[in-house]
Amino acid sequence: MTRVHTLALLLALLPLTALATDDLPADPESLAEGAAIFERRCSQCHGLDHVIYKAPWLNGLIGRPAAAVPDFPYSEAMRAWGGVWTVENLKLWLTKPDELIPGTDMNFGGFSRRTEDRDKVIAWLMEATRDTVTEATRP
Ligand code: HEC
Repeated sequence: MTRVHTLALLLALLPLTALATDDLPADPESLAEGAAIFERRCSQCHGLDHVIYKAPWLNGLIGRPAAAVPDFPYSEAMRAWGGVWTVENLKLWLTKPDELIPGTDMNFGGFSRRTEDRDKVIAWLMEATRDTVTEATRP
């Protein structure tokens, strides 16, 4: 009896856990807003064109290990962190950079009060930072 209940409970929870990892907006309006937010809040430092401005470029970001752009002078804190840029880590990072990686050089306050903006920019970045193999290996 208990086993049946446990199984029923697990099955009932399945859709919820799926949502928890994949709850980014996907509608065209949100993605367009994500692009505008990037333009306003990130692009003065970050490029999507393999060029270092004030910050490392973000090409190929999703799944990329932290501090992996050659020639960018990362902080000791960022180098020591050792994480990978998954959606979950990006959420933490963009909510409060200093909380995920205390001592980081990224001078950005975070979206702590506007998590819907954070999620829109991450959803847009998932598309916009996707490198084709040829682009990624271009000298
Ligand atoms: C004022 C400049 C500035 C702004 C604005 C800024 N960043 Fe950054 N960002 C940095 C710097 C500098 C680093 C490297 C930090 C370090 O070495 O500690 C960084 C690091 C990162 C990293 C890690 C990159 C890697 O190679 O590991 C990500 C991801 C990132 N920023 C995303 C964003 C996003 C998305 C926004 C806009 C919501 C943003 N940043 C806004 C300067 C900025």
